[in-house]
Amino acid sequence: MKISIVGAGAVGASCAEYIALKNFASEVVLLDIKEGFAEGKAMDLMQTASLNGFDTRIVGTTNDYSRTAGSSVCVITSGIPRKPGMTREELIGINAGIVKDVATNLLKHSPETIIVVVSNPMDTMTYLVHKTTGLPSNRVIGMGGALDSARFKYRLAEALGAPISDVDGMVIGGHSDTGMVPLVDHATRNSIKVSEFLSQERLGQVKEDTKVGGATLTALLGTSAWYAPGAAVSSLVQAIVCDQKKMMPCSSLLNGEYGLTDLCIGVPVILGKNGIESIVEIELSEAEQAHMKLSAEGVRKTNDLLSVS
Ligand code: 2OP
Repeated sequence: MKISIVGAGAVGASCAEYIALKNFASEVVLLDIKEGFAEGKAMDLMQTASLNGFDTRIVGTTNDYSRTAGSSVCVITSGIPRKPGMTREELIGINAGIVKDVATNLLKHSPETIIVVVSNPMDTMTYLVHKTTGLPSNRVIGMGGALDSARFKYRLAEALGAPISDVDGMVIGGHSDTGMVPLVDHATRNSIKVSEFLSQERLGQVKEDTKVGGATLTALLGTSAWYAPGAAVSSLVQAIVCDQKKMMPCSSLLNGEYGLTDLCIGVPVILGKNGIESIVEIELSEAEQAHMKLSAEGVRKTNDLLSVS
């Protein structure tokens, strides 16, 4: 199983490391445009192999897409990350052109690949890859909800004083500071609804902290986060490559599901060897439906910037 990751920055390299540590892929190709950067990251990561006990080969290349040939899954992390105070949407002017080129180059060498999009604004970049490549909708997947759900679970565990392993929850909607829809009514602590333990006020705080999870870290770090994004991507890649049929929230091109068409937004999907095996339509409360509708309007507004970017 060969995985290619474009962008050897913090997110791409973290993703490569987590994939290697999980030992489900034979080869990971890290590609970057900066001379020697991907090669250096790959070599440094390979020098942890004997220490961390993995056999995955990680190789780096400077902009040679032929090295990505025959990849089962290709991850696009390239583009600039946001700075403190920026929204993800403000990155579109620069990242749209980069993502378009990267997707085109990847497909030239791996025409059967499944593409996972990470670059921000992620829902719009995922939509751009669909439109640019014309791939079947199951083979272009945006990673945002897996990361947002991990942050949601972190905040729930914090509020509950519970171990993360006791907590389950999902975030759907746009991967944006205002558009995320944490499904509080469905969240559980060891199968019991979290509303049995936490007040509505405290749950409201958990929702708000979740939505700005990325911005909170960007303010602390001076740049976008990378450990959790990298780990979230590796979980999607593993679900695909190992045909796990895992249900995860991913940005998917909708064609009527949730009453939405012709846009990519986070919804529960079943992930397997074909990428998005199916989209799962769950019962949403009226408030969640309204939030999802607002979120979709936000994503569509950002998509409209594509025509002028
Ligand atoms: C985040 O939320 C980078 O969008 C990513 O951290």
